[in-house]
Amino acid sequence: MRHAAISGWGMAVPERILSNSDLERMVETSDEWIVSRTGIKERRVVGPGDSTTSLAVAAARQALDRAGLAADQIDLIVVATCTPDQFLVSQACLVQAELGGNAGAFDLGAACSGFVYALSTASQFVQTGCHERVLVIGVDTLTRFVDYTDRTTCILFGDGAGAVVLEATDEPRGLLSTVLGADGAGAKHLYIPGWGAYVPESAALLAEPRPHLQMNGQEVFRFAVRVMGEAAGAAVERAGLTFADIDMLIPHQANARIIDAAARTLDLPRDKVWMNLDRYGNTSAASIPIALHEAEAAGRLREGDNLVLVAFGGGLSWAAGVVRWGTAGVCRDPECRGRGGAATG
Ligand code: UT7
Repeated sequence: MRHAAISGWGMAVPERILSNSDLERMVETSDEWIVSRTGIKERRVVGPGDSTTSLAVAAARQALDRAGLAADQIDLIVVATCTPDQFLVSQACLVQAELGGNAGAFDLGAACSGFVYALSTASQFVQTGCHERVLVIGVDTLTRFVDYTDRTTCILFGDGAGAVVLEATDEPRGLLSTVLGADGAGAKHLYIPGWGAYVPESAALLAEPRPHLQMNGQEVFRFAVRVMGEAAGAAVERAGLTFADIDMLIPHQANARIIDAAARTLDLPRDKVWMNLDRYGNTSAASIPIALHEAEAAGRLREGDNLVLVAFGGGLSWAAGVVRWGTAGVCRDPECRGRGGAATG
């Protein structure tokens, strides 16, 4: 059976840092409250020169370099985002315009669960033999939609991008199992109102220059703790493994208390759970590929390791998968890494 190994990875965050002490000067909050309730100490925030496109392209270039590939060797680009720079054209086409090549390009929207949804979708193009090399990007600039007078949301979010390259191999590498789920009835708990083709009748919403993210934090918290454990457990079972076989949990970086609760449910020790939200906050679709990149850079991911990726977010949505890390069986010969852009299946 063909598999889709992760052969390249990269990340990008804006330079501007927004610390808890900066937020103390903006809203009625404290570093102590934010750290104890969320684990976040600082986050990166886009400035005038940054965009969803610029972050996605920077992360993608790193991932391509690491895989040793040029953009014109990629067959398909899938971008998971809920904050595209524009609706027409897709974020993926904007990224491709910067990278070059003629890869197929489309966006996928599943909010903070988006990267795992995109990884699952993209892997299937490789597993079925339709494509050889696919670039998957998770990127969001949610701070553009954050209300910096609302202390219940403005402390949580940061901006960033992460990317991976998938390549075909006959060895069991890349995604071994996937669990995707959603509960649309919970959409009202985490959303951006009036941002789309639908024109709301509310004069107040129409008058607002840019809508702000709305969230019922306690509802999302309860939902997250439940689905993180359930989805991760189901993904491990579908891969034919047990948690004793798992080397690292790479969860969506939303709240340290949510991650700790999920790890307790799964009976995973703290040193097998990757957490970097203290420095980035919640970067939505970017959080898992950024965490993956940093775990690798820290020397924590080895060939053949079993990782569990698990995310939740707006939708409400959730997604989990078991990834076997490494590039065993990926052909490095230039002969089998031809030009991309045309479907072969
Ligand atoms: O990708 C998915 C994105 N969303 C999430 O992951 C959100 C999940 N939810 C959470 O992370 C948590 O619910 C929050 C961090 C948002 C809030 O933490 P909490 O422990 O659930 O706090 P709470 O909403 O129960 O509020 C407790 C108190 C309230 O005051 P009173 O009513 O007890 O007087 C809030 O007004 O804390 C107050 N509060 C704050 N105080 C200082 C809320 N935000 C702040 C703040 N600073 N930033």
